Amino acid sequence: MRTFHWFFLITLAMFLGGVATAQQQSTSAASPQATAPAAPCETPLPPAIKAAAKGQPPLSGMSPKAKVKDIMNSMIVPSSTAVFGAVATVTDATGVHEYKPQTDDEWNNVFANAVMLAEAANVLMVPGRQRCLGGAIPAQYRADYLQKARELVEAADEAVVAAQKHSPDGISDAGERIDVACDECHEKYQLVEDDPEGNVGKVLGTFKPKPVPAAPKK
Ligand code: HEC
Repeated sequence: MRTFHWFFLITLAMFLGGVATAQQQSTSAASPQATAPAAPCETPLPPAIKAAAKGQPPLSGMSPKAKVKDIMNSMIVPSSTAVFGAVATVTDATGVHEYKPQTDDEWNNVFANAVMLAEAANVLMVPGRQRCLGGAIPAQYRADYLQKARELVEAADEAVVAAQKHSPDGISDAGERIDVACDECHEKYQLVEDDPEGNVGKVLGTFKPKPVPAAPKK
């Protein structure tokens, strides 16, 4: 168990380092502090719809507004950080320290963040949702993208259930599954400004799809 915790902490540290770097790269004017709020996606957003026109039925149903980047920074990063940080094993000069929520309030806070994460992952699936870079997920990749988002829903739901049971091991296990769910979607669908392979402007991230064979000419 201890080995696992270390492995997880190291992965998490690397991941958070990556997050800080990504945020600095994508927000050149932003403060270099990792804790500073992220700047929004610069792509113009459509204005909010005021109300249904006279004689038209009232507005209803889902309507994607924010870009994926803004959902990441406003909802998914804060909630997942709270879940990742809730349980930890730290070894220093004074020995091995186990951290876990102590009071009902602390457990309720982990629960609230796990709920936020699970439901924010559902929000990623709203049809028509746009990325800041790359636009909407192309139709032929949508089923795969939905599976990746759904995996985050279920991983976060493990944390919801574990927090309700006040189970530190359950939170650690959920944290590991959540971490993998984040990576698997980014590898394929997150484009970055300075993508070393020049993928910006293409549709997919570092993932290289097999070329689709051209339809035979008749
Ligand atoms: C279903 C896919 C998916 C999952 C799961 C996912 N992300 Fe993302 N994430 C994206 C996409 C796509 C982008 C690129 C956003 C854009 O261009 O609008 C992104 C971008 C980001 C960014 C960079 C934001 C910026 O300012 O550029 C961070 C940080 C991030 N995600 C964190 C996370 C964390 C933490 C998790 C897991 C708890 C996670 N993501 C899970 C799809 C996903």
